[in-house]
Amino acid sequence: MSRAIPRRNRLAIIAGNKDADSSMREAVSLGVFDKSRKIIKKDGQVEIPVMQSVPGYEHILQEDPVYYRKTPDLCHSLQGKIPQECIDILPRGWFLLGDIIVVKIHPGLREYEQQIGQALLDFYPRCRSVLADEGISGPFREPARRLIIGDKTQTVHRENGIRFNLDARLVMFSPGNLTERIRMSRLGKGEYVVDMFAGIGYFSIPMAVHSQPRKIMAIEWNPNAYHYLCQNIRQNHVEDIVQPVLGDCAKVTPEGAADRVVMGMVQVTDRYLQKGISALRPGGILHYHQTIPSRMYPDAAIRDVTAAAEALGYHADILGHVLVKKFSPGVVHAVVDARIDSDF
Ligand SMILES: C[S@@+](CC[C@H](N)C(=O)[O-])C[C@H]1O[C@@H](n2cnc3c(N)ncnc32)[C@H](O)[C@@H]1O
Repeated sequence: MSRAIPRRNRLAIIAGNKDADSSMREAVSLGVFDKSRKIIKKDGQVEIPVMQSVPGYEHILQEDPVYYRKTPDLCHSLQGKIPQECIDILPRGWFLLGDIIVVKIHPGLREYEQQIGQALLDFYPRCRSVLADEGISGPFREPARRLIIGDKTQTVHRENGIRFNLDARLVMFSPGNLTERIRMSRLGKGEYVVDMFAGIGYFSIPMAVHSQPRKIMAIEWNPNAYHYLCQNIRQNHVEDIVQPVLGDCAKVTPEGAADRVVMGMVQVTDRYLQKGISALRPGGILHYHQTIPSRMYPDAAIRDVTAAAEALGYHADILGHVLVKKFSPGVVHAVVDARIDSDF
C-alpha cells in the first residue's frame, strides 16, 4: 500500500524527543515541513514529515504516513466536469512559487486548461495565477510558460529565510534544488566565492545571508535573471557581500583568486570547467553541477572534474557528491565537490 505513495509524501526526518521542537522549527524555516502530515512519536523518537531531505538529519520513508487532510486531487475535483479520458491524464503534481502555481499540462487537455487552473486556485486560496509549464531551454535557461488563469506572474518566493523576487514566466526556479540551496547556505563563511551561473541568486543570496562570506562575485548573463539578482541582493540586504556582474562567465571569471567556486549550471557545465578550476586559489573548493545518466552517477561527473584538473596540471581531491534530483528519465542532476591542488 505505502509503495504507491510518492517518496515526497513519505519522507521524514528523525529527531529525539528533546530536539523535536527545534527540528520542526528548522524544517518550517527551511520551507520543507510537510503540513499535510502529522508528526508521529514512535519508539522513543519523533518523525517530522518533510517534503525534501534536510542536510544533517537521519531520514526515513514512513510506512504509514498520517494525513491531516486529503492531498488536493484534481481527478476528484474535476470528476464529471470534463470527459473521463481527460481525467486519466490530469496532472498529479505541481509546485508553488510564492503565490503562483506552476503546472505541466498534457497537450490533450488544452481546452480544459481554464477548469484545471480554477480547480488549482480553489486548492490554494492565497494563490493568484496559474502558469502552464512547457519546459526550460536555451543558454539563458529560460522557462516556456503560459498564463492560463490570473493576472500576475511576478511574485516573492520565501524559503530558508530568503525572499526571492522573480517573474515565474521569465526566469527559472527549480524547487527540486532546495536541498542544495540549503547546503550552500551553510558554506563560505569569510571566503571569497565566485558563483559562475548566479541566476536570480539561487545560491549566492542564501550563502550571503546565512554564512556571510567576505565577498561573492555573482555572474549572470541573462538580463532578466540579472535584474532579479540585483533586486534580490537589495531585498535581502547583502549589498556589501554580493557583487553582481552582468556577463559571460567564460570571459569575466577571475583567475587564481577564489576560495570557492559554484558552477550551478547543467548540461553544458563541462565546457566551463577549466575556467572554474582556474578561478580557484590553491586548495580552493569547486562545486561542479552536471546532468549525467543515472547509471553513471557519480563517476561521469567525477571524471569530468579530475580530467579538467589534470589538463591544467592540478590535482582534484574529490570531497563528495550529491544527487540533487532526477532531471529527466534516466538522467540525474549531480554535484561533485572537489578540492583543487597543485599536482605535486
Ligand atoms: C540553470 S540556472 C541556475 C539554476 C540553479 N542551479 C537552481 O538552483 O535553480 C543557470 C543560470 O546560468 C546562466 N548562465 C548560463 N551560461 C552562462 C554564462 N556563460 N555566463 C553567465 N551566466 C550563464 C543562465 O542564464 C541561468 O540563469
